[in-house]
Amino acid sequence: MQLEALDSSAFSARRARLLDALGTTAALIAAGRPSPRQYRANTFPFRAASHFLYLVGQHLPDAWLVLDAGDATLFVEAPAADDELWHGPTPGLSDLGRALGCDVMPLSALPARLAGRAVATLPAIDAPTRARQAELLGRPVQAGALDTPEDARLADAMIALRLRHDAAAIASLRRAARATARAHEAGMRATRPDVAEHTVRAAMQGALLELGMGVSYEPIITVHGEVLHAHGHGHVMREGDLLLADVGAETPDGWAGDVTRTWPVGRRFSATQRDAYELVLAANRAATAAVAPGVRYRDVHLTACRVLAEGLVSLGILRGDPDELVADGVHALFFPHGVGHLLGLDVHDMEDLGDRAGYAPGRTRSSQFGLSYLRLDRDLQPGMAVTIEPGFYVVPAILRDPTLSAAAGDRLVRAALERFADVRGIRIEDDVLVTETGHDVLTSDIPSSVADVEACRA
Ligand code: GLY
Ligand code: MN
Ligand code: MN
Repeated sequence: MQLEALDSSAFSARRARLLDALGTTAALIAAGRPSPRQYRANTFPFRAASHFLYLVGQHLPDAWLVLDAGDATLFVEAPAADDELWHGPTPGLSDLGRALGCDVMPLSALPARLAGRAVATLPAIDAPTRARQAELLGRPVQAGALDTPEDARLADAMIALRLRHDAAAIASLRRAARATARAHEAGMRATRPDVAEHTVRAAMQGALLELGMGVSYEPIITVHGEVLHAHGHGHVMREGDLLLADVGAETPDGWAGDVTRTWPVGRRFSATQRDAYELVLAANRAATAAVAPGVRYRDVHLTACRVLAEGLVSLGILRGDPDELVADGVHALFFPHGVGHLLGLDVHDMEDLGDRAGYAPGRTRSSQFGLSYLRLDRDLQPGMAVTIEPGFYVVPAILRDPTLSAAAGDRLVRAALERFADVRGIRIEDDVLVTETGHDVLTSDIPSSVADVEACRA
């Protein structure tokens, strides 16, 4: 295996800050293991768990970091005799220790180090790693739960660290954003009528592969943008369709980009597509403009909702007072999801810890349709990265829903929707860093205005 070329001081500093926050609490952080596709030797590409990656920076399979009494020790399997034959030169424990700037011990010494102690951990997302955590700690480690007060303390310390990105993290997020821009430019260039969405996917992922990067989530590249998580890419694109592409780079050290653009399969938007697109763009811009330290993210969401509601009234799709439409959630018939989420090592950063990361203490999810899907409700702080991703979707399942239809009543003008048959789904998503004084749109050079998108398609 090859180590990523990284400056170990950023990781030593993160470990020191976490050790400081943990005080006398000891912690065990799992990298996880490669998961087999069909048989043990054929695995999915290994990516270390994000909490581990944040502290160590290397994708080390089956490695465990122990933080205890002011010290960090990494436990890892010593290279086997035939590792070099199959995997090339493999760093030994002392090489790793030098590269990482911490003590490294053989994995065989880990059980004795933990035996009989109360040690905090965060439940791994995969069952085999969780089972190993439980075995090592001699207690239950359950999916999606924090089983002990120490686990909760570790989770809160990790969240406090990872919420506000340090300089190394911001540099990686900028790299992810730049690569994501190249992918979207390649996608816009590769789109043409009468070929399958796969063609665009190949161009977008190809652009990332050329930069030595992968994707931070399964791409959504579809002429059916109204299907929010459409992961098939088999539709043949036709002149007159819009293509929605939600694609983000993952840097080699694991940091995510997350961008959506929507562009015409032909060279120009139709008049109705342009009307709907301009509306989503206005919502994106208003919500982005609202991003600043101290601002409650739910209010950023509601800013986008308000612009959309106003626009839907202007387009004749909704009737009524925009503020009331938003208060009653009627706009959510066409914008059912939240305006965004935390972004970091995970595309939905720290969602493995549930709403503990996304929601400030004392805040919980609304039960209202639309607002209930909002993943983030914290006051923004400098160093946080978030996405801003409003959309407009004509979703048959929503428009058929009797409860939602009854709540909207005659405020929904169904006849007006016929004009928007060629729209289906539009989303415009950017990655935004909160700064001391406002914000910095990391993905601002990806075309988003009608003129810039059409120029790219010409
Ligand atoms: N690509 C997933 C999201 O936008 O949240
Ligand atoms: Mn996205
Ligand atoms: Mn997103």
